[in-house]
Amino acid sequence: MSEKIQRITTPIVDRKRHRKAPKGRRVDSDVWIHLQHLLGEEPKSADQLIEYLHVIQDHMGYLPVEYLTALAKEMGLPQTHVYEVATFYHHFDVVKESDTAPPALTVRVCDGLSCEMAGSIELLKKIPKLLGPHIRVIPAPCVGRCDHAPVAVVGQVPVHQATEKTIQATVDAGRFVDEHTQFLSLDDYKKNGGYALLNACINNQHTRNDIITCLEQSGLRGLGGAGFPLGRKWRIVSLEPAPRLMAVNIDEGEPGTFKDRVLLERDPHRFLEGMLIAAWAIGISKIYIYLRDEYHGCRVMLDKQIKLLKRNPPMADMPEIILRRGAGAYICGEESAMIESIEGKRGMPRLRPPFVAQVGLFGRPTLEHNFESLFWIREIIEKGADWFSSHGKNNRKGLRTFSVSGRVNQPGIKLAPAGITIQELIDEHCGGILEGHRFYAYLPGGASGGILPATLNNIPLDFDTLQAYGCFIGSAAVVVLSDQDSVSNAARNLMNFFKNESCGQCTPCRVGTAKAHALISKPSWDLPLLSELSQVMRDASICGLGQAAPNAVDCVVKYFPQELKKSGA
Ligand SMILES: Cc1cc2nc3c(=O)[nH]c(=O)nc-3n(C[C@H](O)[C@H](O)[C@H](O)COP(=O)(O)O)c2cc1C
Ligand code: SF4
Ligand code: FES
Repeated sequence: MSEKIQRITTPIVDRKRHRKAPKGRRVDSDVWIHLQHLLGEEPKSADQLIEYLHVIQDHMGYLPVEYLTALAKEMGLPQTHVYEVATFYHHFDVVKESDTAPPALTVRVCDGLSCEMAGSIELLKKIPKLLGPHIRVIPAPCVGRCDHAPVAVVGQVPVHQATEKTIQATVDAGRFVDEHTQFLSLDDYKKNGGYALLNACINNQHTRNDIITCLEQSGLRGLGGAGFPLGRKWRIVSLEPAPRLMAVNIDEGEPGTFKDRVLLERDPHRFLEGMLIAAWAIGISKIYIYLRDEYHGCRVMLDKQIKLLKRNPPMADMPEIILRRGAGAYICGEESAMIESIEGKRGMPRLRPPFVAQVGLFGRPTLEHNFESLFWIREIIEKGADWFSSHGKNNRKGLRTFSVSGRVNQPGIKLAPAGITIQELIDEHCGGILEGHRFYAYLPGGASGGILPATLNNIPLDFDTLQAYGCFIGSAAVVVLSDQDSVSNAARNLMNFFKNESCGQCTPCRVGTAKAHALISKPSWDLPLLSELSQVMRDASICGLGQAAPNAVDCVVKYFPQELKKSGA
């Protein structure tokens, strides 16, 4: 072995990379100047990111990616964060330099179940040709007007019982912004005794404890879906350390639900007074109202009413009230996702514990309520806990506002005793089933609450009464189906909705909703696989969306085997 050993030498590399340009996209200085002009000079706070995105989108018609880059710089946020948030919400149209901007006008046609039953899918096929290439036509999940199905929204203007003719006429009218103007004004509300109760509270005619006790005794439960006892929630939050915050949930995204909008359109100050009484009773320093983007007319109206209150406050030291605009994401109705959204992030539900009552908005104890829960406060306190609990049918207590749509003569919101059956609701409040239709099935609680057959028409509709049937009442959104409808089609519609609205955070929901939709879109359903999938989604999803998404499919399998036999499952 006389060969010389060759030493292997490696060049010494300077491992430090010297970046030639700043990280991320370069900021275009003209764009930045324009953005500063659009947003004004006040310091920008991270929680307002979604509001700023709305300002840009409203002005430009879409979100050019170079504006997102400039916005990140202006706010001192990572570009990835701004991009992630902008692309999370359905109503933001992010357009890259190489992409084509969407047309200036968008027509959204609701493809929610009640609208589909009323012919929206046919409209969606015909309208693009009718309106031409310069108007964008897209499907949209339930826009909260199911009693006027089918519904289209031209720009911001809703078209009820939409037809090709009425959509075209709305486009031709050329006015694409909306403002709701027919409501009980502040003056009229006051003339009818409005704000007297709040006044009595702050003048020590009621104690905080009296008010909370009255609400506990009334049995009022939160009306956003989960049904947590309202008085108990107030007590829990009031015992948490200050500062305490409030978040009001007017996201109303559950397909079939429109009660919050109708009540807000009628009597906004009844809600605002209930909200301020809650703030007084619990010692809340700041209130955020989260209103879904689809309710444009309400937003303009509510904004003006809040400004009126600020000019002439009905109480000393009125908490600051901030109105926030959603951006098209059903999941932001889930309380912790809503809090994330108010904080300017993607609406992804938080893991619990801690609960929002302890660690909510900006890490503070937070009272979160559905709009209607607060709407009831004045009437229950004025009339007494016994008045509220004396209502009810079939051993249930209280009153409920049902949103009814589908195959009934008089759809709309119906104030009825808790525990009413679907048959009573249809016959006594909705003028019966549509002529030529036979009652076949019903959704007792919107898209999430399952589907029941007409043969089970005698179950009291309330919290806790439907679980044994694999269903729940949720926000009391009742959709009535007839012999001219198919529940397997309905289940496909609902699963498609959940697939599109899953926030994507956890696999059982993100993959499960897509897989379930694919499975039930086949001519024959793989029942063992669907059952396994449903179990995984229920057991392992982080939040109620993934846990409840399989309800409708499971109900089809359980209660409507005849439909699956027809399709060969
Ligand atoms: C997926 C999902 C969507 C929800 N959407 C809404 C909604 O749109 N509006 C609402 O008030 N509550 C909604 N909730 C219920 C809220 O998480 C929360 O329970 C409610 O806002 C609390 O207010 P309450 O006690 O007055 O009912 C939703 C829950 C889930 C899981
Ligand atoms: S269950 Fe669905 S919506 Fe809820 S956190 Fe998981 S992925 Fe998001
Ligand atoms: S408005 Fe179309 S389904 Fe609700």
